[in-house]
Amino acid sequence: MVNPANTGKGKKDEVRAMFNSIARSYDFLNHFLSFGIDIVWRKRLIKELKKYSPEYVIDIATGTGDLAIMAAKGSNMKITGIDLSEKMIDEGKKKIAKLGFENKIMLITDDAEDLKFDDNTYDAAMVAFGIRNFENLGKGLKEISRVLKKGSPLLILEFSKPSVFPVKQLYRFYSYKILPFIGRLISKNTRAYSYLPESIDGFISGNEVLKALEENGYSQCYYKKFTFGISSLYVGHKN
Ligand SMILES: C[S@@+](CC[C@H](N)C(=O)[O-])C[C@H]1O[C@@H](n2cnc3c(N)ncnc32)[C@H](O)[C@@H]1O
Repeated sequence: MVNPANTGKGKKDEVRAMFNSIARSYDFLNHFLSFGIDIVWRKRLIKELKKYSPEYVIDIATGTGDLAIMAAKGSNMKITGIDLSEKMIDEGKKKIAKLGFENKIMLITDDAEDLKFDDNTYDAAMVAFGIRNFENLGKGLKEISRVLKKGSPLLILEFSKPSVFPVKQLYRFYSYKILPFIGRLISKNTRAYSYLPESIDGFISGNEVLKALEENGYSQCYYKKFTFGISSLYVGHKN
């Protein structure tokens, strides 16, 4: 497991502290460092989500709420966004207030591995770039399944590992050499943007994620690669 720091406090506390520290520059850096492709990937998740016509949706590790906002636009979904980081949630709340979406989206601090919600509450769950940061992936996936209604989908967007030449080599150079440099300069956090490529490398992808889903309460699982496999969308349905 790759941790954001070596404080000895455990991954969860370190992840919360890291995102609290970069919350204000997070949105800008996200779009800037990905050349805006993250927006296209999120749109593809929302397109898949809409196929299920869900009413109550939970956005796990919502961060500053981008995915929740995208889902709420032009739909009747009622979205609950949860995140460990209070500062990320604060940034999200500002955006939601600006859009007047307070009646569509509720953001609260909570832990994906120990959710405050009742069993069988949601018609769909989604997580963008969150599961890689969980302290215990299996626990998180089981907990998300607990709050989903039977048969309902969990949609996960996560970085994966491109394998084709020269994308693999270029991506590696960019994510280890250029991205941490710019990230450090703008966010002033010395670790967050070197943790990013290391945590992607240290995390599972492709069929291994499907296996994790199947072992933790999901079936009819499948995935789609985006942009040469730089990210992937994984879908599973609660058993
Ligand atoms: C890379 S950000 C992604 C935010 C947002 N989903 C997006 O697409 O921009 C990862 C988020 O996961 C959150 N996170 C990590 N572990 C979590 C957990 N166990 N429960 C809730 N949130 C968690 C972090 O606080 C952080 O805001």
